[in-house]
Amino acid sequence: MSETIGVFEVEDRTFPPPADFAAKANTSDRSLYDEAEADYEAFWARQARELVTWSKDFEKTLEWDLPFAKWFVGGELNITSNCLDRHVEAGRGDKVAYHWEGEPGDTVTITYAELLTEVCKFANVLRGQGLEKGDRVAIYMPMILELPIAMLACARIGVAHSVIFGGFSADAIVDRCDDAEARMIITADAGWRRGQPALLKPTVDAALETGAPSVEKVIVANRCDTNPDMRDGRDLWWHDVMATASPDCPAEPMDAEQLLYILYTSGTTAKPKGIMHTTGGYLTQVAFTHKYSFDIKPETDVYWCAADIGWVTGHSYIVYGPLANGVTSVMYEGTPDTPGKDRLWDIIERYGVTQLYTAPTAIRMFMKWGAQEPAGHDLSTLRVLGTVGEPINPEAWMWYHEHIGGNGTPIVDTWWQTETGGHMITPLPGVTTTKPGSACHTIPGVFAELVDDDGNVVESGGGYLTIARPWPSMLRGIWGDPERYRDTYWSRFEGRYFAGDGAKLDDDGYLWLLGRVDDVMNVSGHRISTTEVESALVDHEAVAEAAVVGGTDDVTGQAIIGYVILRGTHEPSIELGNEIREHVGVKLGKIARPKTVIIVPDLPKTRSGKIMRRLLRDVADGRELGDTTTLADPGVVDEIATRAAEDDDD
Ligand code: PRX
Repeated sequence: MSETIGVFEVEDRTFPPPADFAAKANTSDRSLYDEAEADYEAFWARQARELVTWSKDFEKTLEWDLPFAKWFVGGELNITSNCLDRHVEAGRGDKVAYHWEGEPGDTVTITYAELLTEVCKFANVLRGQGLEKGDRVAIYMPMILELPIAMLACARIGVAHSVIFGGFSADAIVDRCDDAEARMIITADAGWRRGQPALLKPTVDAALETGAPSVEKVIVANRCDTNPDMRDGRDLWWHDVMATASPDCPAEPMDAEQLLYILYTSGTTAKPKGIMHTTGGYLTQVAFTHKYSFDIKPETDVYWCAADIGWVTGHSYIVYGPLANGVTSVMYEGTPDTPGKDRLWDIIERYGVTQLYTAPTAIRMFMKWGAQEPAGHDLSTLRVLGTVGEPINPEAWMWYHEHIGGNGTPIVDTWWQTETGGHMITPLPGVTTTKPGSACHTIPGVFAELVDDDGNVVESGGGYLTIARPWPSMLRGIWGDPERYRDTYWSRFEGRYFAGDGAKLDDDGYLWLLGRVDDVMNVSGHRISTTEVESALVDHEAVAEAAVVGGTDDVTGQAIIGYVILRGTHEPSIELGNEIREHVGVKLGKIARPKTVIIVPDLPKTRSGKIMRRLLRDVADGRELGDTTTLADPGVVDEIATRAAEDDDD
């Protein structure tokens, strides 16, 4: 992959931690790295004992039977007792766990003591419905407090939850419930999105009409008063079952390797993979990373991860990490442009948010909406800014730095995956001098290495990102398919976890994530990262957002196709498109100049905000569009297809 380097722009801006920040930071020197390098098992054992409360101490830190890991062997703990009871027992029961805000503006403040009561009651509801340790329950909910309550109630009694993102279709519910043999679905009538109830219960009904025979019961929270059909004997209202539930549910100690949850994620095949996470190792790494990546000070911070709990980011950094660390979080139900495009900034100002964690796509959307939106709000409480989910282009990083961070707030670009459970590569805000667009270094106790096609370690330049040693929050497998687990992650490079991403190590030892390897294009035998071309496209002053795919080309193998959204006042024209193409040629070299730039009004995105590159590739290749059920706005696809066809005619 060394050709990639040839067109990678060298980034020479650096941002050391501000001195006043470092002086008060949870860590501000190399000691954690040094400790982990000297003996990483001992390092994680120390973190596990310091950050987690065990009912029974573990006997062995790691049992590694490649590729199957057991962490903290023999240890016993209850994860909800770590997230709730221990804070209440330490006299912090009145501390706010969540400042929850509904999209219409209604709010609920729930303390740790109140959350514990709700979780105990719902755990008793689950038991009352016959659920037992080891069973699986699907959760299909909007961003309301009943969602973390349901997850924690499952965890309290050893039932594994499988959260299905609220934007998924009935078919997706059936696939996931069938695969996990879920005995129950916990849902809501609807959730508020852009001022309207987005219905959920009818989708569950549709799913259960066509499949998922393992589901015996459906519990429904009433969020929007949409009066859904309730089937006798199957469907129960949350408020009815909770009315009589006992708040007495002592936390039962679980084995460190008790299955905590299954979370489905898309792979290269049609069937989603049920990623399994267990209890002790997962909690240790999410608590550790939450504390150090975001420099969490539980006494004073108001932390906000603006993701959806339907994705792993929400599991680890809205629910388990923040609660384990006893911090106050903000949780928001709706969209960032309702009622106005300053909704996030308004929330930050009102609650005095100290950490904001969001995705590069969101940041680019905020850029498009304009700096006047955040400028109207006091964001001075922010201490750390985080990003996750995709490579962040330096322009978006700089915009975040300037317009949200007021030029002085450390940014942590956190690389990780559903499979890794927690952060793997990220700056530590009191330690790391950051470079815009680089996720910088692995966290203490995690060992990433880049390798070439033959599996040889690459000391500098481009390569495939692999993880060389097990880590506590690693996936324990794919539900029901150990062979697929081995094949997908451990067979490409012997003895290594292959993340599926390409990366580059620069001369200063900084890691630059280049996107999925399947998004790395090969043009005339040269490998070019979509990320780099996108970064160069958005560097043009007329471009707000860009997505690049490798189209099929008879001569060059692949051809670079760039889709761009223009900023505010710019009008689409062929001339402008050509100018943008040339701009990339100038920035990165001719080899990286897109064959075609297609100006589009919007990009097709999944509800989680990821650009659907597969779809863009299909459009580029003039193929059938396929399944678009996870599109934020399916109309975009037609529009893009039309524009692409027009472009072909020119
Ligand atoms: O390609 C990487 C990208 O997102 C993938 C993992 O996606 P998912 O399992 O949905 O989890 C997303 C939230 C953790 C990775 O293989 N990715 C994630 N974070 C970054 C990233 N790419 C570049 N930089 C990041 N910070």
